[in-house]
Amino acid sequence: MRACARKWGSGSPDVSKEEENLWGIVGLIHDFDYERWPTAEEHPYKGNEILKERGYSDEIRRAIMSHAEYSGVPRVTPMEKSLFACDELAGFITAVALIKPGKSLAEVDAKSVRKRMKDKAFARKVNRDDIIQGAAELGVDLDEHIAFCIEAMKSIAKELGLDGSAAKPS
Ligand SMILES: [Fe+2]
Repeated sequence: MRACARKWGSGSPDVSKEEENLWGIVGLIHDFDYERWPTAEEHPYKGNEILKERGYSDEIRRAIMSHAEYSGVPRVTPMEKSLFACDELAGFITAVALIKPGKSLAEVDAKSVRKRMKDKAFARKVNRDDIIQGAAELGVDLDEHIAFCIEAMKSIAKELGLDGSAAKPS
């Protein structure tokens, strides 16, 4: 989401640190209620209530609500569109990295992701249509968007545990 802010945030690529942080926070917390309330009746509604009580802005809460297709909250802003376009994709790219011999993002490219997307049995909980639709809503080519997302994740591969150290004996 930070990379998205630099690409699609206001005044990009000279987006403010505040805005980049905002996008990052939205990405970080958008599913925080999911573990406890995973059903479509509760997620992300429960989280939205909690964030409201705690004084989180409409901008943040709206973006979080809009990532759930069924909430009826439309995605309007670039931040909202980015969240949706990267959510499932980031999970899918992670899954592709984890089946590589070195378990690292360095071994992943857009082509290998596209190939895995066609394999229905692989990471089958990830909705391929959401990935395709997300890129379309942002108005970007799917392959370019996948490559962009891989590069963004590579820049924080260590934090994501996808820098290859997981495959090495400790
Ligand atoms: Fe979610």
